Amino acid sequence: MGNRHDDTGTPRLSRRAFLGTTVAAGGITVLPVPPAVAQTPGAADSAPMPAAAGEPGRPGAPNAPVTLTVNGQRHQLALDVRTSLLDALRETLHLTGTKKGCDHGQCGACTVLLNGRRINACLTLAVMHQQDEITTIEGLERGGQLHPVQAAFIAHDGFQCGFCTPGQICSAVGMLREVADGVPSHASADLSGARTVSLQDLSEAEVRERMSGNLCRCSAYPNIVAAIRSAAGSQR
Ligand code: FES
Ligand code: FES
Repeated sequence: MGNRHDDTGTPRLSRRAFLGTTVAAGGITVLPVPPAVAQTPGAADSAPMPAAAGEPGRPGAPNAPVTLTVNGQRHQLALDVRTSLLDALRETLHLTGTKKGCDHGQCGACTVLLNGRRINACLTLAVMHQQDEITTIEGLERGGQLHPVQAAFIAHDGFQCGFCTPGQICSAVGMLREVADGVPSHASADLSGARTVSLQDLSEAEVRERMSGNLCRCSAYPNIVAAIRSAAGSQR
């Protein structure tokens, strides 16, 4: 049975011919491209544009000079201006302690400290942070001494595979500073600022809420929470 044509002259597949193309492709339906679409001049316009040398943000653009201060060290880099802070840390500076989980701001594996505040390094561009002090997991220990949060994670077995751990620890360090600064959370009883949460009474609910941006696929949460509460106690 051959193909028919509709009123406009466009060929239409018969039911039998349609099923034949499906089976022949191993279950994948292969639809014919109507000649009218295949020959549309605009189709060629959607092909990738050739590189335009010297145009920022396009293939072939020259790298820009970027200065980053990471763990107390200044680095003069040449980066594509679209480079995320995460990629600059991992791919250019080879500080691979900071992990790339989702690359979309959803897992917290890339958490680093920016002037002491926690951020997702995958959601920001390196070129935006030339005036900032960046601290990664590699920069938390001092003179061979682990940061109290690092030591607490070891003491409480706060990890399994360890992939999320650098982000968890950096996030916890930033979070404990927020608590010390009197920043409330959604779990805080008083949001007015009249009665703030202290490090001494940092409840499990407070820790879980404040750390909710850091996911652990191994579900090591009970030990992570215990480690953070222990570190909070040691910072009284
Ligand atoms: S890698 Fe940045 S939030 Fe997941
Ligand atoms: S310890 Fe494996 S993802 Fe958290």
